[in-house]
Amino acid sequence: MIRVAIDGPSGAGKSTVAKQIAKDLSIIYVDTGAMYRSIGLYVLRKGLDTKDAAQVTDCLSNIDLQTRYDPANGQRIYLNGEDVSEAIRTPEASMAASNVSAIPAVRAFLLELQQTMAKKQSLVMDGRDIGTVVIPDAELKIFLTASPESRAHRRYLEYVQKGQSAEYEEILRDVIQRDHQDSTRVAAPLRQAEDAVLLDTTTINFEQTVTLIKQMILEKAKELGCSI
Ligand code: DC
Repeated sequence: MIRVAIDGPSGAGKSTVAKQIAKDLSIIYVDTGAMYRSIGLYVLRKGLDTKDAAQVTDCLSNIDLQTRYDPANGQRIYLNGEDVSEAIRTPEASMAASNVSAIPAVRAFLLELQQTMAKKQSLVMDGRDIGTVVIPDAELKIFLTASPESRAHRRYLEYVQKGQSAEYEEILRDVIQRDHQDSTRVAAPLRQAEDAVLLDTTTINFEQTVTLIKQMILEKAKELGCSI
């Protein structure tokens, strides 16, 4: 069994890379950011303040999150039965996710869900605290990063490709603000685990990143004498 924890700041390419690796190795992929985004979306839709710990905490008992794999559309996330996989990919949902993710009750709620998924099966899980908090004994930990400018540029292209309106300068400001929020919060801040491999993707492309990580996984499996 190999559990791969991929952490890093927003826009470093974690989810695209993790998704591809999971597909190539036929193992499960868990996008923990999508879980925070779904909670953020729920709170936004209720018209509540995503930074208000008491209001957000009250919402948790009304939230049911399910992830399911759909062969045609890949991993989907359901918020109280509704497929919100697309609705959570907006700048508003991104900021709401970052806000709710600083609230300890939200982290505790999702930690339980994530740790249950990470029990006894090979998987790739990406987020901010996977190697430090969720799976501290993961067989392989990667800290994926890139310069704020290149991360903002990638996000910009993603929005444009989906036909959403986007402005590079605004995205860059958002990236910098979320980096700051995610790494300075008290509850499980974004940081590289001591035993994580640092991979900076500013100057390497998607295929190279996927190849490098797959090599690391195969080497680790060999070293541990286990199958994937
Ligand atoms: O990876 P993402 O952009 O989809 O994540 C959205 C927000 O959720 C991000 O600002 C930080 C938060 N997050 C977190 O705090 N811990 C995780 N394991 C995953 C995401």
